[in-house]
Amino acid sequence: MNENRSGWDAWTYDEISRIVQYQWGLQVLKWREWNGKEIIMDAGCGSGLLTKRLAEKVPRGKVYAVDSDINMIRQAKRNLAELRNVEIVLADLAKVKLDLEVDVIFSNAVLHWIHDHAQVFQHFWKMLKCNSLEKTELLIHVEDTETYEERLQCYKKLQS
Ligand SMILES: C[S@@+](CC[C@H](N)C(=O)[O-])C[C@H]1O[C@@H](n2cnc3c(N)ncnc32)[C@H](O)[C@@H]1O
Repeated sequence: MNENRSGWDAWTYDEISRIVQYQWGLQVLKWREWNGKEIIMDAGCGSGLLTKRLAEKVPRGKVYAVDSDINMIRQAKRNLAELRNVEIVLADLAKVKLDLEVDVIFSNAVLHWIHDHAQVFQHFWKMLKCNSLEKTELLIHVEDTETYEERLQCYKKLQS
């Protein structure tokens, strides 16, 4: 996959994802008890709204915000400009290389966009700090429960 490929209208996504994807992600954040020093990869960070929430959870840790879409990365840079514990990386999740191994891989509403799950999960496994005594985790939420029609109804309800 070409990492500079861009198919996303990142500004629009930044606006409309607040009512659905962002709300899902906030629930996923509650799956873990955070100790404040985790190293995290936000896998497919999009415009960075949830990366910001992750960064608040780990004031003594770090969040790598990774996405393969240049427009999303640009929007994420705008949204996350003031955060010192975030590093933004333009890369494909199947190939990304980070300076540090990670304690947690967080991914919200991304993996259904990826065809080869085996490749991505094998890569994720290599990136996790599995030898440490700290608990390592995959916090992964995939959009698989709603049909397009159901989603449309949800948007309509929220807008009325
Ligand atoms: C629906 S958005 C979700 C963004 C964010 N996680 C959220 O919950 O708002 C899906 C994101 O996954 C990214 N993505 C899809 N396939 C990817 C891949 N192979 N590598 C990196 N990012 C990918 C897209 O560029 C897009 O920004």
